[in-house]
Amino acid sequence: MNGNKETTNSGSDHYFTAQPAAKSQPEQFTISVRGVELTLTSDRGVFSHGQLDDGTLRLLKKMELPEAGDFLDLGCGYGVIGLVAAELRPEARVTLVDINERATKLAADNAQANVISNVEVLTGDAPQVLGERHFDVVLCNPPIRVGKQKLYELIGDAAERLHPGGVLWMVIHTRQGAKSHLREMAPMFSECEIVSRKWGYRVFKCKKQSQEVD
Ligand SMILES: C[S@@+](CC[C@H](N)C(=O)[O-])C[C@H]1O[C@@H](n2cnc3c(N)ncnc32)[C@H](O)[C@@H]1O
Repeated sequence: MNGNKETTNSGSDHYFTAQPAAKSQPEQFTISVRGVELTLTSDRGVFSHGQLDDGTLRLLKKMELPEAGDFLDLGCGYGVIGLVAAELRPEARVTLVDINERATKLAADNAQANVISNVEVLTGDAPQVLGERHFDVVLCNPPIRVGKQKLYELIGDAAERLHPGGVLWMVIHTRQGAKSHLREMAPMFSECEIVSRKWGYRVFKCKKQSQEVD
């Protein structure tokens, strides 16, 4: 297990700042998950430098994806979740968004390097830059360190962007308050369940009410 690299090794500079101060030090690694192999570049100042985060891996293993539709990788970092989803579902359109400019530059470059074209990458505060976009699936290893208020704003906004019957998949470590976060977020959806508990990570599946029929 590689643990959860929450900061950027440069004092108070967090991975969720728009322009990280940490000196750039790109690092490449290869991942193989669910039959998808990608060579990805990460960097200092971006979440999980130099390796796939364990929580991200738990989410990648558990997420269920429809054959097609609109997917969102909320807080994409260097892009791993959205890019795996895009490779698994070539008929889907995948939007990757992050507030960290270094992260989204990496995500776009990683898409190009792995010849993945069914993606768009947006930079900025997700609720602001997603505009009118709506999604069938939201995938998220959330930025717990932004604080509860911002975290619940991000997840609440994502919940509102789900089409009826749409699903948000999210991973949180028990140490980061997985249980209490679930309690706060569950009312934003019609149903929420824990689909996996392993290595201290909980993977949540939260569904939006399907269209009501009279
Ligand atoms: C825990 S990291 C996950 C990164 C990547 N998805 C992964 O699994 O390796 C959370 C990400 O959320 C991003 N983030 C924080 N606040 C955000 C916001 N307001 N809008 C969009 N992304 C944000 C951070 O910059 C960070 O890259």
